[in-house]
Amino acid sequence: MNSDTILVTGAGGQLGTELVLALRKIYRHVIASDLKDGSPALSEGGEFIRLDVLYKNGLADCVKRFNVNQVYHLAAILSATGEKNPELAWRINMKGLRNVLDVCTENKVKKLFFPSTIAVFGPTTPRVNTPQYTVMEPNTIYGISKQAGERWCDWYFQKRGLDVRSLRYPGLISYKTKAGGGTTDYAVDIFFEAVEKKKYECFLKEDTVLPMMYMPDAIRGTIQLMEAPADKITVRSGYNFAGCSFAPKDLAAEIKKTIPDFAITYAPDFRQPIADSWPQSIDDSVAQKDWNWKPEFDIAKMTKDMLVNIEAMQSVA
Ligand code: SER
Repeated sequence: MNSDTILVTGAGGQLGTELVLALRKIYRHVIASDLKDGSPALSEGGEFIRLDVLYKNGLADCVKRFNVNQVYHLAAILSATGEKNPELAWRINMKGLRNVLDVCTENKVKKLFFPSTIAVFGPTTPRVNTPQYTVMEPNTIYGISKQAGERWCDWYFQKRGLDVRSLRYPGLISYKTKAGGGTTDYAVDIFFEAVEKKKYECFLKEDTVLPMMYMPDAIRGTIQLMEAPADKITVRSGYNFAGCSFAPKDLAAEIKKTIPDFAITYAPDFRQPIADSWPQSIDDSVAQKDWNWKPEFDIAKMTKDMLVNIEAMQSVA
């Protein structure tokens, strides 16, 4: 087992809960942290601490106390919550990141992971096969904060020598922990409602194509990026990172193959313009070339796996 000590912030979130468990299979010391109390899965399998990323001294104490040498900084506010509370999103996403970047630099942390997003792109970006390097004019506070975050990460790499690595995640789909406050969350909720109620009212229009990814691919890709040799990493802002792209109607059709009487209705809300400003599909050829990225799940394989697992969870509940 690798003897590095890893700190994960925002470990109670959709990505964090699964990433912590995956990291604990490889690393002996993985400290999960969050603003809120940890779930049993996080606190029983290893160290869990309460940590507010806005409180720099607490962060620094933790890094020193545990001799942390890798940080996965996941704590953030997502797009839909960010539009409702821009001040909070800016403070957590920006000040939280600056604190982490400084604490990592001051304590000679070896590697930092920063989750970026497709929301760094905006309405003026080419929407199909969005390239790694292109026009970026995000128009959500979430996107603006993550784009600025990418620039800070690149700056800390260039000027302070911090080994920062980052992925522009698409919508993440998982059954272990639900998403919260994002525009792509429909693609998680739809599965739970399909199994429980056989119907779902979608907050995006039926033909809204967005980039998505199944959690096992996201976890594998994240760890693969973080374990790649430093000289292979040519992007220090955020790598384009693609799984599969689809619209709500495509996902509904796929679910119907297993649940034939599933019915979907559409009631687009304030999240529709957010989705309309984002890419439909992503060109991740730089990630493929630099560290051999390749997703394993398409919409069909992901849908089958989601439904099997949610049904299994419901039957034991
Ligand atoms: N899933 C995120 C959101 O919808 C995008 O990165 O906000």
